[in-house]
Amino acid sequence: MISLTQLTKRYGEFTAVDSIDLEIRGGAIFGLLGPNGAGKTTTLRMIAGILEPDGGSVRIAGHDIVREPMAARRVLGFVPDRPFVYEKLTGAELLRFAAGLYGLAGPEVEHRIDELLGLWDLLAWRDQLVESYSHGMRQKLIISSALVHQPEVLVIDEPMVGLDPRSARLLKDLLRSYADGGGTALVSTHTLELAETLCDRLAVIDHGRVVAGGTMDDLRRAAASEDGGLEEVFLRITRGASDAEIDRVLKA
Ligand SMILES: Nc1ncnc2c1ncn2[C@@H]1O[C@H](COP(=O)(O)OP(=O)(O)OP(=O)(O)O)[C@@H](O)[C@H]1O
Ligand SMILES: [Mg+2]
Repeated sequence: MISLTQLTKRYGEFTAVDSIDLEIRGGAIFGLLGPNGAGKTTTLRMIAGILEPDGGSVRIAGHDIVREPMAARRVLGFVPDRPFVYEKLTGAELLRFAAGLYGLAGPEVEHRIDELLGLWDLLAWRDQLVESYSHGMRQKLIISSALVHQPEVLVIDEPMVGLDPRSARLLKDLLRSYADGGGTALVSTHTLELAETLCDRLAVIDHGRVVAGGTMDDLRRAAASEDGGLEEVFLRITRGASDAEIDRVLKA
């Protein structure tokens, strides 16, 4: 459903995303897991067509995001890590605007707006300005705006940011039923718990490259620690600072 071929992004001399190849199938939740600065956001922004690749390509449902942006975006819902929101719109107005971008309007859209807001218990906030929304409420609204046109592919950069435990659970359930219904969900995370409990398949990226991939069990094998905890697996694959280095800095 999403196909990345030798996808590359450079900032000057620095290569943020380095020749990534990935095949992401429909009907499943795929996780992009990696430490801070690994290149997750850069990759997702290229998939969403917000950032132009310096090399390689992205295909969404067969459409090249650079050559056929309209066709590719029509099937895509994207939730960026730092979404821009019009503060002076109400929640319902923002969702109506999002639907309008896809040429959708009328009673069906109004019904969909109520459905989405109702899901998050936000109906009472329907006609309140976005500027009065809390961080988590905004995240729920932005996720709703990405779902308003019922996309086949949903890409969320750090899905749980700002969500309380109950809302996080709700989003997990929502993504699960979305995938069960045939949708393709792609999320980025550095939360191991989320990777383990939510994702059917994962790619671990570090320094812009895919360093491991597959199911959580595959990753455990790759880290050669079948019985190791998840954290151990992640640390072994991405190899951050050693305990000795941490000790040295803390005691300096
Ligand atoms: N506009 C930019 N100009 C220069 N360098 C950039 C730019 N955007 C990102 N980078 C660099 O590219 C690398 C990858 O950044 P990216 O935001 O994709 O990481 P990430 O995996 O999403 O990290 P995090 O977990 O912190 O969100 C980082 O080293 C970052 O400093
Ligand atoms: Mg990021």
